[in-house]
Amino acid sequence: MNYSATRLLELTSRELDRFRANHAESAVLHERARISLLNRVPMQWMVHWAGGFPIYVAHAEGGQLRDVDGHEYVDFCLGDTAAMFGHSPPATVAAITKQLSSGMTFMLPTPDALVVGEQLSAHFGVDSWQFTLSATDANRAALRYARAITGRNKILVFNHCYHGSVDETFATLDGDKIVAPVTSLGPPVDPAVTTRVVEFNDVPALSEALEKGDVAAVLTEPALTNVGIVLPGEGFHARLRDLTRRHGTLLIIDETHTLSAGLGGCTRVYGLEPDIVVVGKAIAGGVPAGAYGFSQECSRKAASVTSMVNTDSPGVGGTLAANALSLAAMRATLADVLTAKAFESSIALATRWTQGVASLISEHGLAWHVTQLGCRSEYHFAPQPFTTGAEANAAMDHPLERLLRLYSLNRGFVLTPFHNMALFCPAHSLQDVDRHCEIMDDVLSELFKR
Ligand SMILES: Cc1ncc(COP(=O)(O)O)c(C=O)c1O
Repeated sequence: MNYSATRLLELTSRELDRFRANHAESAVLHERARISLLNRVPMQWMVHWAGGFPIYVAHAEGGQLRDVDGHEYVDFCLGDTAAMFGHSPPATVAAITKQLSSGMTFMLPTPDALVVGEQLSAHFGVDSWQFTLSATDANRAALRYARAITGRNKILVFNHCYHGSVDETFATLDGDKIVAPVTSLGPPVDPAVTTRVVEFNDVPALSEALEKGDVAAVLTEPALTNVGIVLPGEGFHARLRDLTRRHGTLLIIDETHTLSAGLGGCTRVYGLEPDIVVVGKAIAGGVPAGAYGFSQECSRKAASVTSMVNTDSPGVGGTLAANALSLAAMRATLADVLTAKAFESSIALATRWTQGVASLISEHGLAWHVTQLGCRSEYHFAPQPFTTGAEANAAMDHPLERLLRLYSLNRGFVLTPFHNMALFCPAHSLQDVDRHCEIMDDVLSELFKR
């Protein structure tokens, strides 16, 4: 069923009025930021929150968040995965509190470094870990290593991927041309120079793109999560692995979001065999941290290329990378927060939400579907699951997404400012999930009423 554009505008305008009326304190802070912050926000994507300005956070704990106007929210955004197991998990807080008074950064390792390396190896089945402050940095470094190891300069990504602000990955297909997406700010070079792009799940195109023998690495999420969720088709990963091996191309699996699938992310759940694994966001419970690790064979090559670069500034790294505070946070989070039990309860909530949303889609006669990847779930404005990023991108409807998010926000639920994703943590309850489905029922009834 289709909605009336006029009705959508009316509802959005009514909800914006309600948002402004209820968020006076946030509005004052937003106005005060006019001079001190670019476009009044500390990060540009904060402009995109559904109310026209962001709510300012006073406190967050577990699955809840309180704003400076005193409203309590159930937080299904969870820092867009960075707080995937809830805000300020007690074990992480205890570890960083202890570390705070013992020094935070030294340019020297603490014993936590090797414990975290061992923990990450146990999760993802690859070794030889290196640390960064973000998943973006980990992807950048992984690409540098891949070029150094293979002596090749191109990388390959899938259309509508996102791997953080990594220059080479800001490349998209326009017909058969590779171009910078319109959203890319100041691209350094034409991305066709650095990057090949093919559609996810398109094995013939992948095969053709690798055949030239000049691609250092394929960098991919195991399932796309940044253009809605696009799951890999039957046998896609096996073909991807075969082709990359056959053409001497390294396979970098970015688990930053797909960690939601369960312990060890999709690498473990799907039984993948990457050359390099990248992780970030949730692994330190909210403290900035990223990491990348190498398969045994790749790690020998990585060690050999680094021994040839006799410099302290090889193009990867950062003074604060592997700092003691991030490592203490990762150690505690990996040991006590990111546990099988935590996944079990979060995934159960995601399943309940997925079922609830699927029922609403059917009751309202909508040609939509909902996709779950562990404790992450998302609905899409198209009847069938997608096979490519282009299909998923074409189904997006930003005004509609905005209304759905704003309506929820006005009724105590925070969802990401991008597409229709919800994340669940052990601190959420079945009541939270069911209440959100009721709210979704209300907005759909208002929007689609005849
Ligand atoms: C798959 C993936 N990789 C990497 C990143 C970058 O993470 P960060 O912004 O924490 O560097 C993101 C961010 O959303 C992501 O979705």
